[in-house]
Amino acid sequence: MTAAHGAAPASAGAGSETAEPLVWLNGELTPLSEARIPVLDRGFIFGDGIYEVVPVYVLAVGEGEARVRVPFRIEHHLARLKRSLEKVGIANPFDEAGWRALVARLIEANEAVGALARDGHANVYVQVTRGVAPRGHAFPAAATPTVFAMVNPLKLPADAQREHGVRCVTAEDKRWLNCDIKSTSLLGNVLMAQHAVENDAFETIQLRDGWLTEASSSNVWVVKGGALFAPPRSNRILEGIRYGLIEELAEACGVRFEAREVAGAELREADEILVTSATKEVLAVVSLDGKPVGDGKPGPVYAALYAAYQCAKQREAQLQAQALHARATELQEVEK
Ligand code: PDD
Repeated sequence: MTAAHGAAPASAGAGSETAEPLVWLNGELTPLSEARIPVLDRGFIFGDGIYEVVPVYVLAVGEGEARVRVPFRIEHHLARLKRSLEKVGIANPFDEAGWRALVARLIEANEAVGALARDGHANVYVQVTRGVAPRGHAFPAAATPTVFAMVNPLKLPADAQREHGVRCVTAEDKRWLNCDIKSTSLLGNVLMAQHAVENDAFETIQLRDGWLTEASSSNVWVVKGGALFAPPRSNRILEGIRYGLIEELAEACGVRFEAREVAGAELREADEILVTSATKEVLAVVSLDGKPVGDGKPGPVYAALYAAYQCAKQREAQLQAQALHARATELQEVEK
């Protein structure tokens, strides 16, 4: 495998989105329907694994409007992947260059077979489990981690959700206290997501002992008096890759940000509530438990952060395109 740069140019001639996707399983690209995991894989038996979800945008850059695929903030995702693996004691199967190459190869292969629309944004899902071993709770003496990766179309929020915001409900956070690990043991989150569905809501926002933690699959932000607040990084929340990004964007937009515990009452009295994740970017919550948030419309801090988010994507596309160009020039020089 070559250590290709993460931003693979969108190749020409890719077909429809209906072709069967290729997935990466333990070093091989395999049609999705043929990929098999042994039933004794600890991911299946114990949920003993970790994962990442990286958004990959197709963006136009430069004068010729050339398009690049941008695995957005991939270095942060790979750093979190490394941290999650360390926290659960699974050996990291690749270094950063290896992971980048895997992602680039997976995307290129899916584009080539027409499983990924040429213009379509995607998300890359990566999972590493402790591997296959006879069932026993403690770590097996010898097991090779299972590495699985797939690429799916990125389903960003619909225009109506962007424009009008979304409804959320609250519930007690009953998950374990290692929420900082991006673990595949997601039953607590699954139940919260289902709670949202059953209450005709977009997300369930969780509170632990009366304090805001996070939503079933997003981080939560509260705006009061023009300032932005979010629970600090801790074992009670997953530090989203958008956590650091929103901090940066808030600063750039002149919005004061403070990481501090947020009481349930503050959540209910917020002027704005926002949720962030790889697939939602940043989204306004306009109703909580059936009551309007602020004036019941997406607010100015949301609007500023959403616009800044779009600029950040474009900036990263520009940087990746420049890096690709520099690399191509370097290679030409070497070949001379
Ligand atoms: N989930 N908190 C939880 C519990 C999450 O599951 C997620 C994202 C986040 C936000 O993290 P990030 O900004 O890195 O996406 C916070 C992903 C998208 C998922 O499970 O599909």
